[in-house]
Amino acid sequence: MQSIKTERYTIFFQDWGQLNLAYANGKYSKVIILVDENTERDCLPILKENVNFNFDRISISSGEDYKSITTLSEIWSSLLSLKADRRSLLINLGGGVIGDIGGFAASTFMRGMTFINIPTTLLSMVDASIGGKLGIDFNGVKNLIGLFNDPIAIFIFPQFLKTLPKRELDSGKAEMYKHGLIADREYWQSMIALSPDHQDWTELIYKSVQIKKRVVSADPTEQGQRKILNFGHTIGHALESLNLNSVAHLLHGEAITLGMIAESYLSYKKGMISIIQFEEIIRGIDKKYVFPQGVILDIDQIMTYCVKDKKNQGQNILASLLDSVGSCTFNVEIVKSEIAEALEFIQQYLKK
Ligand SMILES: NC(=O)c1ccc[n+]([C@@H]2O[C@H](COP(=O)([O-])OP(=O)(O)OC[C@H]3O[C@@H](n4cnc5c(N)ncnc54)[C@H](O)[C@@H]3O)[C@@H](O)[C@H]2O)c1
Repeated sequence: MQSIKTERYTIFFQDWGQLNLAYANGKYSKVIILVDENTERDCLPILKENVNFNFDRISISSGEDYKSITTLSEIWSSLLSLKADRRSLLINLGGGVIGDIGGFAASTFMRGMTFINIPTTLLSMVDASIGGKLGIDFNGVKNLIGLFNDPIAIFIFPQFLKTLPKRELDSGKAEMYKHGLIADREYWQSMIALSPDHQDWTELIYKSVQIKKRVVSADPTEQGQRKILNFGHTIGHALESLNLNSVAHLLHGEAITLGMIAESYLSYKKGMISIIQFEEIIRGIDKKYVFPQGVILDIDQIMTYCVKDKKNQGQNILASLLDSVGSCTFNVEIVKSEIAEALEFIQQYLKK
């Protein structure tokens, strides 16, 4: 399958040969692979079978709770003990958490060492590994501390998905629905038509990567158009942060799905999409997820997160909303009463 080239790096598909080539000739003083306990168990053995270079490893605990300053500090300490230097290479082998925190650790260690991403979840293959957003959660707020920096390459191997739990696979589909909803109605329709046990992800991942690449290349540091990728994320991130330590712990894609429903509702209420388009979206997403019981939807608590959203300007909460199925616009102001109404819609939706 053809690689996808961006201005600064290439995204390779199912290409162990290129991965081996990239590290030939003693180019790096050392190669270190960052994993969590799950990718160490399920993905590292596959990688080992296919590469011909030596490496050290750093293993961290899995999950969003560990995308933290404490884990970041542990990674820096491990890099120091392994005697990594600026000419070393860090390979992030894992989902979005590994990619975000590993990329951030590499970009800041000794003012920056080289890294590559090998995403192992559906969500990180189609979204998190691409676009250079790196960072950690801080003071309970998602991705509050971070920077933009790119890996030198991304290698996508859909075979890693074989061990991914079903709930995580479904979570990944959320960002694919989003890519369709903001940029490509045909892709959205092909995504919602999939059977629940769909197995062959390669073509669909490729399409999502193309959409994300196109949007990011036009606006790498999110000054404008890239904000459309945040559709569903103003309310979705607030729900994710608020429910992080509750009984209804939502996965990223689950929170973003609820955020997309809420923000589609706002798009409809603001007259940006028709009732027919709104119903198409709700029908499309319906029955795709079994959400945990007891999701906290408290408007005042949600507002404390929405006001801290990085897309805001001053006191105004700015969201990216749909102006059609397959098209999105950004910097649309939303206010507390509208968010409250959207949350009521979510509450009814979850009761169904
Ligand atoms: N940087 C970005 O642009 C961007 C975009 C979207 C999401 N994100 C971030 O990504 C994170 C979510 O990523 P995620 O959904 O990949 O979660 P994750 O990294 O927590 O991975 C999900 C779970 O799957 C396990 N796992 C990963 N690959 C596996 C495999 N092949 N087999 C078995 N188990 C495997 C992990 O150990 C973990 O338990 C969030 O922190 C979110 O903020 C970042």
